[in-house]
Amino acid sequence: MLARSALRSVSNARAFSSSASRQTKVAVLGAGGGIGQPLSLLLKTNPLVTELSLYDIRGAPGVAADVSHVDTHSEVTGYPADKLDEALDGVKVVVIPAGVPRKPGMTRDDLFNTNASIVRDLASAVGRVAPEAHILVISNPVNSTVPIVAATLEKLGVYDPKRVFGVTTLDVVRAARFLGGIADVNPSEAVVPVVGGHSGPTIVPLLSQTAKGKGITGEVYDKLVHRIQFGGDEVVKAKDGAGSATLSMAYAGAKFTDALLRALNGEKGVTTPTFVKSPLFADQGIDFFSSLVELGPNGVEKIHPLGSLSASEEKLLEACLPELKKNIEKGKAFVA
Ligand SMILES: NC(=O)c1ccc[n+]([C@@H]2O[C@H](COP(=O)([O-])OP(=O)(O)OC[C@H]3O[C@@H](n4cnc5c(N)ncnc54)[C@H](O)[C@@H]3O)[C@@H](O)[C@H]2O)c1
Repeated sequence: MLARSALRSVSNARAFSSSASRQTKVAVLGAGGGIGQPLSLLLKTNPLVTELSLYDIRGAPGVAADVSHVDTHSEVTGYPADKLDEALDGVKVVVIPAGVPRKPGMTRDDLFNTNASIVRDLASAVGRVAPEAHILVISNPVNSTVPIVAATLEKLGVYDPKRVFGVTTLDVVRAARFLGGIADVNPSEAVVPVVGGHSGPTIVPLLSQTAKGKGITGEVYDKLVHRIQFGGDEVVKAKDGAGSATLSMAYAGAKFTDALLRALNGEKGVTTPTFVKSPLFADQGIDFFSSLVELGPNGVEKIHPLGSLSASEEKLLEACLPELKKNIEKGKAFVA
């Protein structure tokens, strides 16, 4: 099923066009890739996007020509490798799925060597050309690439922590879907706060905070948590060397972008987990963390505390923190 929001977007596009006053130019950096292509398509169906700027070192003009024929009002332009600055001109939101994906047997951290410099260079261009833009980081390892973006912007003197987000929505989507698969609940109504970071043990689902999740215990609980933490491996294994999650990630990326765009346009109460600069565990040297974040017209509006955790969740959090700290430090050290 296509995203409900995307379908709604398509049907609302005409109604919106007469009332569209805000110009929201969104750029996708890495638009030619496995995530970038379907993400660009989904963003083309979002009525809150008025211009779509697609950039990649390979193939973006072709993706743009294709996507531009979809019958929604936004204008789509594709930019080749040497036109990054042009692609970023006037953008309000930049989504970054550029970089290499995992192959079987790899952890997200194994991608660091390649993706760290790709993300740093793209962030640097955004900081120079569109310093006011909101940056949504999909490229892995998110636990390190978000601190890389932050440190890069900081060096340029344009870092605003309210405008840099690690996209952890796929963990939230998976948690809802997997919980829906074992409890009698529609996944779209099974919203599970997933906190921490975005890799294996740093992914901490707070099932106790959901009506259908809190009764799950024992082996069923352990298996569910493991599946949420390592669901990405199922896809990597099934794709057998051809990459990692792309379609579900595009869905998740479009869902988070839509949430941010709605909040930027003044909708109140838009709250979702995302990996941001956070005070929650800063006293332990962990200054980026994903928890429920209320989004607003300036980006991050309010970072919610974790709320009460079950004993099992306390243990998951204990395992998360040291690993997350290492990942964050590795990202910072790369830019230092
Ligand atoms: N946050 C998440 O939940 C999540 C989930 C799945 C995958 N990912 C990550 O997303 C990234 C992309 O995955 P994919 O499957 O789309 O990979 P892919 O290889 O299919 O696509 C990546 C694209 O990035 C482009 N690219 C490389 N360097 C670039 C640069 N300097 N500027 C612009 N574009 C550049 C490539 O040309 C390619 O088109 C990977 O790092 C992957 O690990 C994140």
